[in-house]
Amino acid sequence: MDGNGRWAKSRWLPRAAGHRAGVSVLTPLIETAGELGVRTLTLYAFSTENWARPSTEVETLMTLFLETARSKVPELNERGARLRFLGRREHLPHRVREAMEEAENLTSGNGVIDVYVALNYGGRSELVDAARRMIRDGLDPDAVNEATFASYLYAPEVPEIDLLIRTSGELRVSNFLLWQIAYAEFYVTETLWPDFSPEEFRRAVASFAARSRRRGGV
Ligand code: IPE
Ligand code: MG
Repeated sequence: MDGNGRWAKSRWLPRAAGHRAGVSVLTPLIETAGELGVRTLTLYAFSTENWARPSTEVETLMTLFLETARSKVPELNERGARLRFLGRREHLPHRVREAMEEAENLTSGNGVIDVYVALNYGGRSELVDAARRMIRDGLDPDAVNEATFASYLYAPEVPEIDLLIRTSGELRVSNFLLWQIAYAEFYVTETLWPDFSPEEFRRAVASFAARSRRRGGV
């Protein structure tokens, strides 16, 4: 979900206004995902690198997560979304962690769409955390294969990523789901996240559907 800052800047607004505008597009997009038959949607909300932003912006983002949890979770719950979070929880403010747990508990029985929110998430951290847990579990190195490794990721049930949408024109992966994107198709758009519309989401999925995926084959 990139481009909130630039969206705000182009309107002479503070960056926080861009983040707020970014939140407001979430519900229509999640609804559209459901209509399109998308079973799993992962949103990259805050990376392990985002702590490097000025503390005022980090605080704004944390407050916004709390507000968003309060305002959107009941609504998403009614629409049948199951919410889960990916990332290192231990460094997040206590209140944010509580809100995450509440959202997960409230929505755990839902089945229309799985919505994962990557919060304090880093692809490398996820791989390091998986390796640490495998070693702690005393796994036999020769018994570790790709399936074993995948079972140690934050959410082993998440299927491989089919389509990765990158807004605001950036041509990089930015430490997102490094394991899971091995064969992901990319859709890069200049559109800034707050302007990313259900129509464009549909176009992205249509573009994905028209591609032939060979996964190294012919
Ligand atoms: C949102 O966009 C990403 C978050 C960390 C919430 P940015 O804040 O990165 O926006 P730009 O890149 O400055 O436009
Ligand atoms: Mg950015």
